[in-house]
Amino acid sequence: MATRIVTITDHKSGKQVECPVYEGEYGAPVIDIKNLYKELGMFTFDLGYGSTAACRSAITYLDGEDGVLLHRGYPIEQLAEKSNFLEVSYLLLHGELPNQVQSDEWTHAIKMHGMTHEHLSRFYQGYRYDAHPMSVLAGVCAAVASYYHASTDIHDPESRMLTARRVIAKMPNLVSKIYRHSSGLPFVYPDNSRDHVENFMYMMFSWPTEPYVANPVALRALNLLFILHADHEQNASTSTVRLAGSAETNPFACVAAGVSTLWGKAHGGANEAVIEMLAEIGEPKNIPKFISRAKDKDDNFRLMGFGHRVYKNYDPRAKIIRQACHDLLQSMNLNLPMFEVAMELERIALEDEYFISRKLYPNVDFYSGLIYQALGIPANMFTPMFALARASGWIAQWMEMMADSDFRIGRPRQLYIGAQRRDYTAVADRG
Ligand code: CMC
Repeated sequence: MATRIVTITDHKSGKQVECPVYEGEYGAPVIDIKNLYKELGMFTFDLGYGSTAACRSAITYLDGEDGVLLHRGYPIEQLAEKSNFLEVSYLLLHGELPNQVQSDEWTHAIKMHGMTHEHLSRFYQGYRYDAHPMSVLAGVCAAVASYYHASTDIHDPESRMLTARRVIAKMPNLVSKIYRHSSGLPFVYPDNSRDHVENFMYMMFSWPTEPYVANPVALRALNLLFILHADHEQNASTSTVRLAGSAETNPFACVAAGVSTLWGKAHGGANEAVIEMLAEIGEPKNIPKFISRAKDKDDNFRLMGFGHRVYKNYDPRAKIIRQACHDLLQSMNLNLPMFEVAMELERIALEDEYFISRKLYPNVDFYSGLIYQALGIPANMFTPMFALARASGWIAQWMEMMADSDFRIGRPRQLYIGAQRRDYTAVADRG
């Protein structure tokens, strides 16, 4: 329902278009410009989508000015403290927290879908032991599509829900196999006597000849990281999943597309890049040199784990992770020199005019890698861990899009700046 009208006038032709304005529950109102091209023959131009709402969504809200993040209305701080990853995944998908019966049914269903087709295991053998795990993950996610292609009806809500359960259930299995392959260890089947996160740890780290007992401190930390990474509104990978899905492609192929986008170091790949950066800095005395490089416009180095398109305040997830990292290191009695470097880097950056004036704060990736490192997870597995968690958000967003009555293929337009029309010349006549 429009609350007001914005009139856009082309002062050259004198033509006007009236655009309705819609208010969401929170956040900036949106101007509906769907008649712009019809009435004025013009497109909008918004590089990087800084002012474009690409969809309507009821899943996640974030307020970048105040550093607020809500999933289905619940503040991230409360979910991080009181919930667990599987429950948050349910919440993202269904819109409500489950009651006991729903929770039991959900947990059971996720366990039942945790296996992958035995032949899928052979896909991993095609990758070198040192292949980047995100490349493997994109490949195997797309491969899963082949097992469920004919049987998936994306226009049937029940079939979609089955797919969503499969995605959430299989990701730990798919990710753990990447680590096992790279380490020369045998694959481990899920053990349904364990809960979701514990099962992941078990498939990753258990030794064939020994009983596996998960460290409860590690389980809590991992649960927390997965909750904090589960969804984040219309970020690059989620938008990729939606765009791919809008073409009515297989949902596992959409997830593979999301994995590919997440890999980039401006997005999920930042967690791995932060650790590389902290290792390169080495000691607090080297920090000023890296701060200067980050400020130098002739140097493409950026402070990894700093800055965010939406947050112009401390990322609420980073606040939680920073404390969790501190607590984890203390409870494990671990002295991680990188944590000291990270805290000092943060302190210096937050007092620097360059970062203050651009409102650049630590983001979710700044401290998450340190937790993963403390848990013994290799740096190149950090982004697959992010993907494991974010897959629940991707599939919830895909479900929402598929059920939208205004579902349409996503098809952006462009400002063409190429050559004018010209005629083909034979190769002999070309200069
Ligand atoms: N280090 C140094 N300068 C920075 C940084 C940084 N990390 N981030 C932004 N800036 C500067 C940028 O150079 C620009 O300066 P100026 O106005 O003088 O040209 C200004 O701040 C605004 O930056 P922008 O590039 O217009 O911002 P953006 O919204 O397009 O980019 C970002 C957001 C996250 C890609 C960027 O901040 C960045 O590259 N950060 C480092 C990578 C990172 O930590 N990514 C994880 C993001 S959060 C988790 C996720 O998405 O998965």
